[in-house]
Amino acid sequence: MAPVITSHSGSGVVAAVLVMVTVLLAAAAVAQEDPGEGGSSACSRRPVVFAFGDSNTDTGGAAAGLGYYFPLPEGRAFFRRSTGRLCDGRLVIDYLCESLNMSYLSPYLEALGSDFTGGANFAISGSTTLPRNVPFALHVQVQQFLHLKQRNLDIIARGESAPVDADGFRNALYLIDIGQNDLSAAFGSGASYDDIVHQRIPAVISEIKDAILTLYYNGAQNFWVHGTGPLGCLPQKLAIPRANDSDLDYSGCLKPLNDGSYEFNNQLCAVCDQLSSQLRGATIVYIDILAIKYELIANHSAYGFEEPLMACCGYGGPPYNYDRDVSCLGPGFRVCEDGTKFVSWDGVHYTDAANAVVADKILSGEFSRPKLPFDYFCKA
Ligand SMILES: *[C@@H]1O[C@H](CO)[C@@H](O)[C@H](O)[C@H]1NC(C)=O
Ligand SMILES: *[C@@H]1O[C@H](CO)[C@@H](O)[C@H](O)[C@H]1NC(C)=O
Ligand SMILES: *[C@@H]1O[C@H](CO)[C@@H](O)[C@H](O)[C@H]1NC(C)=O
Repeated sequence: MAPVITSHSGSGVVAAVLVMVTVLLAAAAVAQEDPGEGGSSACSRRPVVFAFGDSNTDTGGAAAGLGYYFPLPEGRAFFRRSTGRLCDGRLVIDYLCESLNMSYLSPYLEALGSDFTGGANFAISGSTTLPRNVPFALHVQVQQFLHLKQRNLDIIARGESAPVDADGFRNALYLIDIGQNDLSAAFGSGASYDDIVHQRIPAVISEIKDAILTLYYNGAQNFWVHGTGPLGCLPQKLAIPRANDSDLDYSGCLKPLNDGSYEFNNQLCAVCDQLSSQLRGATIVYIDILAIKYELIANHSAYGFEEPLMACCGYGGPPYNYDRDVSCLGPGFRVCEDGTKFVSWDGVHYTDAANAVVADKILSGEFSRPKLPFDYFCKA
């Protein structure tokens, strides 16, 4: 389901009702951002990363490709300007790039200021895996990648220089993080849980499998596949009126939705295992994002968070500060003073502070299968 975008002429801004994963970016600057300090990498060659996904990974693709504009307070905690990210700062992919001491990934569709020597970001806010042929479904993102690769190789064949050469493509990391919007739409459709687990989820996993296979048969060898997060812990889902609290677990999350996320990940992990043994020379690392994010929410105080289930930017106040009609940037929205106390930025997306914890946990290797470090692909 595409994000619902509503225009509120009164405020003069295009406000976005973020039904699911969405994004933003303004001018051209995304590519040139300095990753800041803290980067230290054991890479023995220049790391190249190609990312595919939705707003969890979109560093400005929807802003560039669809012309969306998401002004401050988006970006306020780190970039201090609109970058196209649906977050007050950095996304997980940004922290992962920092860990490699490389620049943030340029959105593939960003015409100005982009630098593709470190790869490209095909992720677009609101993206799903199905239907597969609409912009910017996962399949379309993979087709865009194939176009970019062919352009690079054609230019090199003419004797000119291109951002990534054949070795670069072969040694690159291919990161996939998608499915949250598919899962959210499935639960929103009123489909039965059984139908979601046995029909909808397998169809989505099949698309991800197809993407990995297509990339592999086009020379990709190194994959990094994120599972989905706990859908039932999003303020957006928790704010939906319910008859009683019998579906809430001990962390205050909706158990049926988290069960759906768990099923999704089981099936995705199984496909990663299957492809790992099937595809010669391929390394496919699966990351248990559900365990990472759920532990962050359940144990939020230990990480310095005060509000695990309330959006910083939204409307309506406690307990969730989420109103589907007045999301972050909507007319009359409210934004918290200190986003570092909140896990959720806008009811759907995590804050810069929460993404830092998620990225740290990813980089710990503890949640990876097999247990390879994130920089495994750029070592000799
Ligand atoms: C990170 O990159 C900068 C240049 O952009 C370089 O000066 C620095 O030494 C690098 N750090 C590591 C740990 O590779
Ligand atoms: C809670 O609501 C559900 C319907 O959503 C109902 O089946 C259940 O019996 C209710 N439980 C209690 C304790 O009222
Ligand atoms: C919660 O965080 C504390 C402090 O980091 C840690 O010791 C504890 O193991 C964590 N609990 C869980 C359930 O992970």
